[in-house]
Amino acid sequence: MRTQVGIIGAGPAGLLLSHLLHLRGISSVVLEKRSRDYVERRVRAGVLEQGTVDTLVEAGVGARLLREGLPHHGIELRYGGAGHRIAFEKLVPGRSITVYGQQEVVKDLIAARLEAGGDVRFEVEDVALHGLEAEPYLTFGGERLDCDVIAGCDGFHGVSRPSVPDGVLSFFERDYPFAWLGVLAEVAPSSEELIYSQTERGFALHSMRSPTVSRFYLQVPPDATTEEWPDERIWDELKARLETVPGFTLTTGRIIEKGVTPMRGFVTEPMQYGRLYLAGDAAHIVPPTGAKGLNLAVADVRVLTEALDRFFSTGSTGLLDGYSDACLKRVWRAQHFSWWMTTLLHTFDSDDDYGRRLQRSHIDYVTSSDAAATTLAENYVGLPW
Ligand code: APR
Ligand code: PHB
Repeated sequence: MRTQVGIIGAGPAGLLLSHLLHLRGISSVVLEKRSRDYVERRVRAGVLEQGTVDTLVEAGVGARLLREGLPHHGIELRYGGAGHRIAFEKLVPGRSITVYGQQEVVKDLIAARLEAGGDVRFEVEDVALHGLEAEPYLTFGGERLDCDVIAGCDGFHGVSRPSVPDGVLSFFERDYPFAWLGVLAEVAPSSEELIYSQTERGFALHSMRSPTVSRFYLQVPPDATTEEWPDERIWDELKARLETVPGFTLTTGRIIEKGVTPMRGFVTEPMQYGRLYLAGDAAHIVPPTGAKGLNLAVADVRVLTEALDRFFSTGSTGLLDGYSDACLKRVWRAQHFSWWMTTLLHTFDSDDDYGRRLQRSHIDYVTSSDAAATTLAENYVGLPW
């Protein structure tokens, strides 16, 4: 079996890459170890930058996103007994974000790939990479797939990155001393906009998915388990961390999903080796506070699509050679912003009184200075694509 681009992983990165390549007449096969049902149900983040929305719409997979996605023109920072709105329309006129669940993006992409006759294989076992220096091929479940190029879109725990010989790649990493407990609930959002709440008990985020489904996150210890968080405890803690301003009441409802996500920043340099190109979480991850993970994956895939198109249409490797450099500037901007938002809003057990005063001064500055608020807003809505 032969294809131009062998893609490992049917997350947003792998599926979008396959679809964008198809639109340029380039063939690919996507190999995914999980079932279709599993990847379509996996609840992840849900904030799309304008560039991500534009990319999906231009690719013809944005119809439902435009119908059901929720446009947002601001967020609230809540702390010290008051809420402070970061007003995108004032600070970064004409730029906004759209709230639409990542698994909805995945569903739309899978439907589009299958409708176009795309080759997406689920529940594929033992994917292995070979010949990365010159003649790449993949093996899986007793089969062999020869390719011109391999795209490693298999997330942080995938096989692509570890297939590169030791010593070739450099890794940059920061672990945070806490995790996020993510909760999906069948209840109308208690707020029209996202609330990022900083409290002495820890951080909480009120987000949403639709007029009838809300999404919440709680800062929890790094080793927390969902068993330790029965529904009642979750609602008590969300109330304690969100009902901190006069007149705000959190409406509770049935919890339909919960999970714990570690908080980590991680970057691979370079994002390529021989004929292997890493994209999305396979190459980098950010703590979710800045809502950048999915958007970075889409940005990588756009750059990679251009580079592959040039390669297959002219034989020139110029853009492919520069793929990593072209991506890493945005990747590091997102790393810095995500770290900045995380330190602004979370409770660090290691902080002394001095550290807590610094944090308060920082957040006061962000909510009182247009210059500082603009820094937050322009990074949050995303740098120009
Ligand atoms: N073989 C085949 N598929 C694999 C393998 C493997 N050995 N290992 C992992 N995969 C699959 C996973 O099951 C998953 O479906 O690769 C896919 C990777 O998808 P994501 O983790 O969603 O990563 P990506 O497409 O880069 O999307 C980045 O996802 O993690 C979030 O917040 C992150 O929003 C960001 C986005
Ligand atoms: C989400 O809606 O899942 C979400 C929103 C904002 C974030 C992270 C996640 O910063």
